[in-house]
Amino acid sequence: MFNSRHALRDTSDILSPSLLIYRDLVLQNLRTMIETARGADRLRPHVKTHKMADIVRLSESLGIKKFKCATIAEAEMVAAAQGPDVLLSYPLVGPNLHRFVHLVRGYRNTIFRATVDHPDSAHALSEAAAGLERPIRVLIDLEVGMGRTGIDPGDPAAELYALVDRLPNLAVDGLHAYDGHVRDSDPAARAAAARLGQQKTIDLADRLIRQGFSVPRLVMGGSPTFPIHAALERAGVECSPGTTVLHDASYSEKFPDLKYTPAALLLTRVISHPRADRICLDLGHKAVAADPSGPRARIQGLEDAEVVNHSEEHLVLQTPRAGDFAIGQALLAIPTHICPTVALHRRVYVIEDGRVTAQWDVTARDRVLGV
Ligand SMILES: Cc1ncc(COP(=O)(O)O)c(C=O)c1O
Repeated sequence: MFNSRHALRDTSDILSPSLLIYRDLVLQNLRTMIETARGADRLRPHVKTHKMADIVRLSESLGIKKFKCATIAEAEMVAAAQGPDVLLSYPLVGPNLHRFVHLVRGYRNTIFRATVDHPDSAHALSEAAAGLERPIRVLIDLEVGMGRTGIDPGDPAAELYALVDRLPNLAVDGLHAYDGHVRDSDPAARAAAARLGQQKTIDLADRLIRQGFSVPRLVMGGSPTFPIHAALERAGVECSPGTTVLHDASYSEKFPDLKYTPAALLLTRVISHPRADRICLDLGHKAVAADPSGPRARIQGLEDAEVVNHSEEHLVLQTPRAGDFAIGQALLAIPTHICPTVALHRRVYVIEDGRVTAQWDVTARDRVLGV
């Protein structure tokens, strides 16, 4: 999982705990994503993984123009970074309805898209958007097996599509189907599971087209099902992996068929030797995500150590080799789950050729930016 490109020439000025972003590996992962999607136009990466305007700009430099978001702050970050096309795939309720409309009004060079999965949400968005110069484009969010959000892709979704088409201030714009429940390690089993949701989405699109609607886009999947949806020969398919741009230990282990390299590592230091067979690192759960349960990171040289305690600022490991690690020694760690780990850091170090060359803000770490 670690490779020679993760090596650092000098760690003496790098604070710990901190997050390091390997710029060349981010570019390599983005290029692989474009290749898998068979063109940047079929790619709508989810920015929740990195939340960084600089990575949006890096993506744009490779021709990626469409982005997916989970929060209004992420949508604003993309628009402020000149992203021309933003899909907010998260239900808009309460004051967030007006925040979103405010964003649409404020960033005229960006096309904003939203999802709805219930007639009440469609009515609420239509009312909130009254007075806008341009309609909000709306995709219908389908429940394809995850059971989190979405509407039944049969009659209920077809009726909702027709409703959004009729409502003022909205323009119906396609289907959104996220299959985060598909997690089989075996690529064949994963493909079979993903195709169930994929087929429901296609059947609905064909039915709507037969009824005379236009269905300009089908936004499908995350990282594990990315290659499966990318292989689909159909106009309008957009794949929305998030994790692959930075990648992490969990996906590397669970989905070895995904050929991405971890591009975001943590730098931690040994801070104590409380017992002969224990070491304590400054890698508490305020620096590395505590989600999911189990080891929170793969630590270079300590892959087999047992976690005995993980608290806010401490990670205590048990290993007969504890004595091999000096107090103050810097270690690299690959987070198990990168997306929530990024959100724990305000700034990151950018690494090129083993050296720190810049620092980037984790722009959308804050819940509120301008609106
Ligand atoms: C709606 C939606 N789309 C895409 C993704 C990206 O999935 P992954 O993290 O597997 O790349 C997520 C992840 O949570 C998501 O919720």
